[in-house]
Amino acid sequence: MKQKVRVGIIGCGKIALNHAKALLANDNVELLACADVDGKRAAEFADRFGILHAYDNSTDLMSSGIDTVTVCTPHPTHEATVIEAARHGLNVLCEKPIAISLAAADNMIDAAESAGVTFGVLFQRRFWEASQRAHQAIRSGRIGTPVFASVSLRLGRDAAYFNSDPWRGTWDAEGGGVLINQAIHYIDLMQWCVGSPVVRVNGSIATLKHGDHIEVEDTAVATLEFANGALGVIQAGTTFAPGLGTQVLVTGNNGATVSVTEFPEGEPAFNDIWTVAGEESYQSVHSTETDSDPSLATIHEGLTPYHARQIDDFIDAVAHHRAPLVTAREARKALATVLAIYESSRTRLPVDLGATPVHA
Ligand SMILES: NC(=O)c1ccc[n+]([C@@H]2O[C@H](COP(=O)([O-])OP(=O)(O)OC[C@H]3O[C@@H](n4cnc5c(N)ncnc54)[C@H](O)[C@@H]3O)[C@@H](O)[C@H]2O)c1
Repeated sequence: MKQKVRVGIIGCGKIALNHAKALLANDNVELLACADVDGKRAAEFADRFGILHAYDNSTDLMSSGIDTVTVCTPHPTHEATVIEAARHGLNVLCEKPIAISLAAADNMIDAAESAGVTFGVLFQRRFWEASQRAHQAIRSGRIGTPVFASVSLRLGRDAAYFNSDPWRGTWDAEGGGVLINQAIHYIDLMQWCVGSPVVRVNGSIATLKHGDHIEVEDTAVATLEFANGALGVIQAGTTFAPGLGTQVLVTGNNGATVSVTEFPEGEPAFNDIWTVAGEESYQSVHSTETDSDPSLATIHEGLTPYHARQIDDFIDAVAHHRAPLVTAREARKALATVLAIYESSRTRLPVDLGATPVHA
């Protein structure tokens, strides 16, 4: 690589720490600038990581001679920030969820495509070894055709978590609850592994435990149909005390099943079910003698190496003018599924997402 990729971070809160560590560890990156609407926070972040320029607004950062930004701001701000970055000709790696509406996601994708910039979205759980192994087994046909898939998310959150940032727990400022914030990682992982998008959804959401401090859902269930005819289910809650972890599971038409399980939250996932013929040794034995309710900082720390892998993939994609592993169009699929569950819950009707399942 001739010239280093010059990067700025927008939003200097909690997850920006993972971005800064990953960017500083990448030899092909110059981390030159950061911005936060809280200028003091940006300045402290710059001091901590030795970043040259700190700004109290993203527009000044975008004109500072960088060519790439990572966006670590709350969900509803992603749309305007990404569009502005694209119009400045900057490549963008945006934190999940891509946006809180499909119209916003489409505006962002249009802006990036019109500007010819690379636009990726953070779903670093795809970069776990266990995810890569499951994806590879499925893509190479070792479970046959995927026929069943599930996401089971059983996490613990408390009032302190929801009260820790003003944007958490409201429809306007977060765009939803457990589905759009936590489960979306695993919905993305499930769809990537199945290799076929969700095309029909029936779902219900409710606020059953945390209603004193949030208006969004803490509990969700849904049945899914994929374009290839596979069926699936999602069950998700932030109501568990202690948290019991998260599992994505895919079964194929030869009967084999692979799973990717994260427990405790933030630890690298493992393949707790692996019934592919001749590969039984992949099935991981995992100790549960660990803290099942780690702090948010511990969870983020555990995810840092996988942020690094995705950020390295994105930087390499920018340098070599190729698509990153998680494109914005890919990330839109998980958002579409989440929003369809919200709509189905509201209307009490199934929601079609476009394509027709092969068995319909
Ligand atoms: N990939 C993951 O595993 C993971 C984990 C945690 C959070 N996230 C995502 O990262 C994003 C940020 O989450 P967080 O927990 O770091 O939030 P946070 O509240 O800790 O940090 C957000 C920061 O953005 C700043 N900000 C708000 N609006 C801004 C704007 N328009 N321009 C510049 N700065 C602005 C805030 O002042 C704050 O410092 C969210 O999309 C969240 O879902 C991803």
